[in-house]
Amino acid sequence: MKILVTGGAGFIGSNFIRYMLREHPEDQVINMDALTYAGNLENLADVEHDPRYTFVKVDICHRPFVFEMVKMVDAIVHIAAETHVDRSILDASSFVRTNVAGTQTLLDAAVAAGGKRFHHVSTDEVFGALGPYDPPFNEQTPYAPRNPYSATKAASDHLVRSYFHTHKLPVTLSNCSNNYGPYMFPEKLIPLSISHLFEGQKIPVYGDGGQVRDWIFVEDHCRAIDTVLRHGRMGETYLFGGEAETTNLELIRRLLAILGKKESSIEFVKDRPGHDRRYAMDFSKAQQELGWKPLVSLDEGLRRTTDWYAAHQDWVARCKSGTYQAYYEQNYAPKIGALLEEKKV
Ligand code: NAD
Ligand code: DAU
Repeated sequence: MKILVTGGAGFIGSNFIRYMLREHPEDQVINMDALTYAGNLENLADVEHDPRYTFVKVDICHRPFVFEMVKMVDAIVHIAAETHVDRSILDASSFVRTNVAGTQTLLDAAVAAGGKRFHHVSTDEVFGALGPYDPPFNEQTPYAPRNPYSATKAASDHLVRSYFHTHKLPVTLSNCSNNYGPYMFPEKLIPLSISHLFEGQKIPVYGDGGQVRDWIFVEDHCRAIDTVLRHGRMGETYLFGGEAETTNLELIRRLLAILGKKESSIEFVKDRPGHDRRYAMDFSKAQQELGWKPLVSLDEGLRRTTDWYAAHQDWVARCKSGTYQAYYEQNYAPKIGALLEEKKV
């Protein structure tokens, strides 16, 4: 298969591309990413020269480019999005643009290209917040997003399903819980906490730290996406989780223990507005139909993650200083020059 991955320079996208190149030597991957602040081509430096991998700097809202790119592939795995809840609270504009209008552009392109296979990557946040004794979300849970990020993801999910019913587009959807692992931008809780601890700073815990998330190691999510892409039933949605419901405070305490730090590294700060109290996932449909289950325990995943961040403190430093954004100009611009010369442009 020739697969177009959107948002491949981000956290999940870069892990997914590496996973696909490793697991499917016969496939080709085109990474289409606009390189927003969350896109970091350093994440894929190790596969950059693989002949099965190509990067194109394209915004998913740019119709002419998107339509051309979609024509060239067999399937689209749509991962690109604006993803940070706190940023969506400050300004939702880019979330509406990318998550809603960008998804529509891709769907239109998939229809125009004759009905390309389309897998949409989404989140548990579309279902809203659970109380402490509520059963976990499942595929029948009504949508009830409560922050601008999740509202735009919910809108995109509805659009994808509407193209299945209206245009007969062969779509599948996956909604996953909180991912963690290598290459996660240090604005999200786990990489932010680890990097703050390395730098001797305190971890800002929103509110009372009693919010519950179901943490999944990113490689388990990549395998989930790949499995749905190959074996999912058209028009269907599959939920994925890590079987690891944990309060933020418990999670941070585990990180403190792994890194040998004290409880005094925790600082309680003002709560996030509209903060969802609990997410939890019932992934029995995926388990029964696709034989999927998470393989990496929270203990193992956190160890692998802290080890990775310890070995890549220079990567974190470049994320924080913003110098990672020069990677494209430094490494790709010279190649464009060579290409133009070769083609005598
Ligand atoms: P991320 O923020 O790390 O990466 C997003 C990527 O999308 C970046 O490379 C960015 O440059 C690219 N992008 C943004 N706007 C674009 C545009 N207009 N055109 C082209 N590219 C654009 O995100 P992530 O955490 O890897 O999440 C990826 C996807 O998985 C999202 O759809 C998100 O909703 C979903 N998801 C994330 C989690 C999680 O815990 N991180 C959990 C469930 C689902
Ligand atoms: O549930 C899946 C979602 O997980 C994805 O769809 C989102 O794209 C992804 O960003 C993530 O959203 P969260 O809001 O759950 O992740 P975040 O890492 O921002 O926060 C995790 C929890 O930690 C949440 O309860 C807020 C809290 N938090 C976060 C930060 C950044 C803190 O207490 N302090 C912090 O500094």
